[in-house]
Amino acid sequence: MKQNRFKRQARDALDWYDANARDLPWRVGPSARAAGLRPDPYRVWLSEVMLQQTTVATVRPRFAAFVSRWPSVGALAAAAEDDVFGEWAGLGYYARARNLHRCAKVVASDLNGVFPDTEEKLLALPGVGPYTAAAIAAIAFDARAIVIDGNIERVAARLFAIDRPVRVAKADIRERLDRIWPNDRCGDFAQSLMDLGATICTPRKPSCPICPLNDHCLAAAGDDPARYPTKPAKPVRPDRAGAAWALFDGRDRVLLVRRPPKGLLGGMMALPSAGWSDHDDAPPAAAQWKDAGSIEHVFTHFRLTLTVHAGAAPKGMRLREGEVWADAASAAVPTVMRKAIDRAIAHRDSRNSPSPA
Ligand code: ADE
Ligand code: SF4
Repeated sequence: MKQNRFKRQARDALDWYDANARDLPWRVGPSARAAGLRPDPYRVWLSEVMLQQTTVATVRPRFAAFVSRWPSVGALAAAAEDDVFGEWAGLGYYARARNLHRCAKVVASDLNGVFPDTEEKLLALPGVGPYTAAAIAAIAFDARAIVIDGNIERVAARLFAIDRPVRVAKADIRERLDRIWPNDRCGDFAQSLMDLGATICTPRKPSCPICPLNDHCLAAAGDDPARYPTKPAKPVRPDRAGAAWALFDGRDRVLLVRRPPKGLLGGMMALPSAGWSDHDDAPPAAAQWKDAGSIEHVFTHFRLTLTVHAGAAPKGMRLREGEVWADAASAAVPTVMRKAIDRAIAHRDSRNSPSPA
């Protein structure tokens, strides 16, 4: 029965796509597609690899440059690697450009220039992961592959009111999408959800009143659709407090000690400090310690307030095992210690600077 070809969600998304599909240089639009035109798998693959890294706006000109310079996978395979890197500029990690070129060579030489038409075989190509394999299978070959990118994930989380963070709801999202995913026009359906996510079901302010999925959408039935996808719970970070001692030698150097190899900041050079980790140092000398204020630092598992004490080294002071003098302004230390040293320097300089006349 013709009218039962699509679930209602799929039918409504496809009808919307037929009238509103974005005009994208790698895309065969719905009317041309219906007239029998098929997308070039090379262009689909190239665009999907490019789009993993960056936005449609950034990809447009880079895609145009690539396909005019290398109109086929064979041409790209024959290109010099440096030229490929040159055209890749601005598209992110070079490892991806290297894989792109390797993939072109495999398709050109091992597969006679023909891209495989199943998810499984696509997945075996260099640089092609589960998302890309599904997207190429669906868009280039209309294979029934469930395509889930960031946009589709968000639309699905709202449509089905999935109230767990997507990170832990991936299988659920896939299964629910599977139930509405059509058996034909799979590529158009995937792209309809991508376009919906990019233009209507946007991250902060979804335009539910004009959304073709409104009637089916569980999030839109509630009062705050944008609360989906559920944000991951904020880690609870208890507060801790400690002290650190910045001992200056009068030559812009500060005393550092190496922390024990295991535990927080393991093996790194640091101000002597105590009270906030498994390891406590003693103050490095009997000095006239001054309160230099405090700094805050957020570690993965707690929030630290460190009170910084500044002092001047006694004359003729001998260093103990593990202690070194290091240039206070430039010593390579972990961020929390950089903040503490800078606090101590600021305190010292404010006391040393002559008061205005
Ligand atoms: N993002 C990734 N692939 C896309 C596609 N084929 N159309 C629109 N946006 C996309
Ligand atoms: Fe997104 Fe609103 Fe459409 Fe639901 S109705 S899919 S929340 S835009």
